Amino acid sequence: MAKKKDSIDIGIAEDQRARIADGLSRLLADSYSLYLMTHNFHWNVTGPMFNTLHLMFMQQYTEQWAALDLIAERIRSLGFHAPGTYKELSKLASIQEVEGTPKAMDMVRHLVSAQEATARTARGLFPLVEEASDEPTSDLLTQRLMVHEKTAWMLRSLLDE
Ligand SMILES: [Fe+2]
Repeated sequence: MAKKKDSIDIGIAEDQRARIADGLSRLLADSYSLYLMTHNFHWNVTGPMFNTLHLMFMQQYTEQWAALDLIAERIRSLGFHAPGTYKELSKLASIQEVEGTPKAMDMVRHLVSAQEATARTARGLFPLVEEASDEPTSDLLTQRLMVHEKTAWMLRSLLDE
């Protein structure tokens, strides 16, 4: 049977690709929210911990920014469009925006929660991804979990008295 010119046949059924792409879109939205929160806090942090936090937040948002591209391009590889506007991303995100300018340690608390939320969203996709033998997505999710869980630990450690 002739294949449609634009059809995709990578060995994953279309409905599975669609569900994985939906999940990755939610991960992209949480990753973007976390990225923006971290960059915002890099700009606006104040207090005696300024230098440490300003630099730590920069390392974190730089890594996160690169990851956004990997997640979006995995969605494209599965045959779907990646959400790329604030409107779409804010509808898909599970992370609430922080209003105003929190104190430095409250920024850290917000970031721990957002890192954990992003990890939960990534972890929630595994059953679907494993069922479809979608190893590239599984690998990407594993890498993101490593980073979010490690970063959450580092941030949490700052809160220890
Ligand atoms: Fe900067």
